[in-house]
Amino acid sequence: MQMNDKIAFVTGAGRGIGRAVCRELLQRGAAGVVIADLDGATAQATAAELGGLGLQCDVSDEAAVQAAVAAAIAHYGRVDVLLSNAGFGATELDLDDALAEPNDLWTRMWQVHVMAHVYASRAVLPGMLERGQGYLVNVASAAGLLCQVGDAAYSATKHAAVGLAESLAITYGERGIRVSVVSAVHRHGDHRSRRKAAGRRTCRPALGRTGRHGDRGRARARVLPGPDPSRSTDVRPAQDGGL
Ligand SMILES: NC(=O)c1ccc[n+]([C@@H]2O[C@H](COP(=O)([O-])OP(=O)(O)OC[C@H]3O[C@@H](n4cnc5c(N)ncnc54)[C@H](O)[C@@H]3O)[C@@H](O)[C@H]2O)c1
Repeated sequence: MQMNDKIAFVTGAGRGIGRAVCRELLQRGAAGVVIADLDGATAQATAAELGGLGLQCDVSDEAAVQAAVAAAIAHYGRVDVLLSNAGFGATELDLDDALAEPNDLWTRMWQVHVMAHVYASRAVLPGMLERGQGYLVNVASAAGLLCQVGDAAYSATKHAAVGLAESLAITYGERGIRVSVVSAVHRHGDHRSRRKAAGRRTCRPALGRTGRHGDRGRARARVLPGPDPSRSTDVRPAQDGGL
């Protein structure tokens, strides 16, 4: 995918997938990237390394998201692409008790994995709709298509993120807004220790679904503008590679 002088706003971009995607977006012609992260120091360090605007922002705080998008627009003039990527995993997994995770973890995951997409989309959509074009990309997980054993909060909120992306796609698609949801598979970062802890039971089909990681999205998969894990599942039929 070529970025054709687009401006991207990427959350959770201080490190990991978000940071890697920012690098790739710039290599593919983005005119600017906004590197937003809860950890302001890593956001600034990544911005200094890659070029771009580093901002401290807690994506679970709607006012903070609105302020960060306003700062991005003040700096670059617009946001063409939103990559709503920030997320986190539980540190303790009880593989035998799907309900063991505490309520505050459920609440935080709901905020960061679902409401953050709502807040960021609300902030960027007015400008996109005015211009008749824009691209919303929500990072979910393979656990949002299948199910992660021992991690109901992560699985349920990532499923919700997929449902939200589908709602956005059918609501705004005819007004020039493209929507994708990325269903990454464990590759690196904090998620790795969780996979190790869960062993072969990490992610499974549930509720009668059959298949393996990626099966559901394979027919509609495209390669993300970023390094591994780099397959995304388009919630609409794949179109061309441009924006
Ligand atoms: N790495 C994997 O294997 C994997 C697999 C499936 C899905 N994912 C998803 O991909 C996304 C990125 O994962 P990653 O591996 O790069 O994670 P990571 O832990 O390496 O980086 C996540 C970044 O998000 C930031 N962040 C966390 N909470 C935030 C908040 N409230 N506001 C703003 N920033 C916040 C962190 O500070 C961090 O910089 C997440 O949504 C994750 O659930 C990752």
